[in-house]
Amino acid sequence: MGKQFLIYGANGYTGELITRFAADRGLKPILAGRNAIAVEELAKKHHLEYRVFSLDETDRLDAALQEVDMVLHCAGPFSITSRPMVEACLRNKKHYTDITGEISVFETCAAMGKKAEEAGVMLMPGCGFDVVPSDCLALHLKNRLPGARRLALAYAGFGRVSRGTATTAIEGLGRGGLVRRGGVLTPVPPAWKTRRIDFGEGPRPAITIPLGDLSSAWHSTGIPDIELYFAAPPALRALAVASRYLGPVLGSAAVRRFLTARVRAGAPGPTEDERRRGRAFVWGEVEDAEGRRAVSRVATPEGYTFTARAALASVDRVLAGQAPAGFQTPAKAYGPDFVLGIPGVTRTDL
Ligand SMILES: NC(=O)c1ccc[n+]([C@@H]2O[C@H](COP(=O)([O-])OP(=O)(O)OC[C@H]3O[C@@H](n4cnc5c(N)ncnc54)[C@H](OP(=O)(O)O)[C@@H]3O)[C@@H](O)[C@H]2O)c1
Repeated sequence: MGKQFLIYGANGYTGELITRFAADRGLKPILAGRNAIAVEELAKKHHLEYRVFSLDETDRLDAALQEVDMVLHCAGPFSITSRPMVEACLRNKKHYTDITGEISVFETCAAMGKKAEEAGVMLMPGCGFDVVPSDCLALHLKNRLPGARRLALAYAGFGRVSRGTATTAIEGLGRGGLVRRGGVLTPVPPAWKTRRIDFGEGPRPAITIPLGDLSSAWHSTGIPDIELYFAAPPALRALAVASRYLGPVLGSAAVRRFLTARVRAGAPGPTEDERRRGRAFVWGEVEDAEGRRAVSRVATPEGYTFTARAALASVDRVLAGQAPAGFQTPAKAYGPDFVLGIPGVTRTDL
């Protein structure tokens, strides 16, 4: 049998999209998840094998991993789902990739890097929209200005988000903001800073936000001061500022339950048409101690389409034997130009 991969959480919005793209390319992943009816239906639709187990069914999880070379983990929030899958990958000596954008998951995988190295296993979270373009951009900028001490990255162009993305965001509510200072993750208030950033269509206001790059870009570039921004209209900025005073309320179990129920009642994610028409943008700036600066931008297809393509591009690399052991980021493993191999992506140096 050829090299194989497992898609866990295949029946989710993003897992399903990745499965469809994989099947269109003639790939034969084994699909998996805990929802028997949904996973079976999807597998039958694409003539693929499937396994049904939850992440605490260790024997079944181990048995499924024994059949493959790697996992593409698509079940989130990853703060809940990642650890059992990473531990199973280490036990079974299989490579781990996922599509998280959660800081805690990058940090946990980085902390397990030594163990992974010893096991000959690659742990590479963040193979989706957050963080492939930004991680590659960060390393590209570091190469343009090797003495860089400060890095700012910014996102724009999110359209409608999936239920899973919204649920994951709810998990993080009330936790406040974060930046990296002197190499250390440092708490700051939500929407701590506002900047006007030109993503290619004129300057727009953007606010600081805690995204996975605060971890991945640090591991990819070693730049000690990192800030992440998100293009936000004034109303969203006002809401973020208000959350400074509502942190304990927003983080309460009751509010989370209420918001999660609202999300579950909504659409699963962007429609085909929204995905086809959507574009997303990442901007980055580095500065060194002498005040020299470099700025670059990346434009990508819509975020979920990009995520599906980027995740499968990572699978291609791993199955081709490019799986350096230990904790990896996409840019560290495959270089700053990895993102340019994904259809529809352009990069501009300013
Ligand atoms: N970084 C990025 O750019 C990016 C892009 C896309 C998605 N994501 C992330 O990927 C995750 C999935 O997004 P989605 O849009 O596919 O969400 P979704 O449609 O809600 O699907 C979630 C999937 O995860 C499974 N799942 C959730 N909790 C689980 C648990 N405790 N144990 C086992 N399986 C579990 C669900 O299984 P059930 O059906 O059984 O509940 C379902 O298969 C989210 O965390 C999202 O933030 C990130």
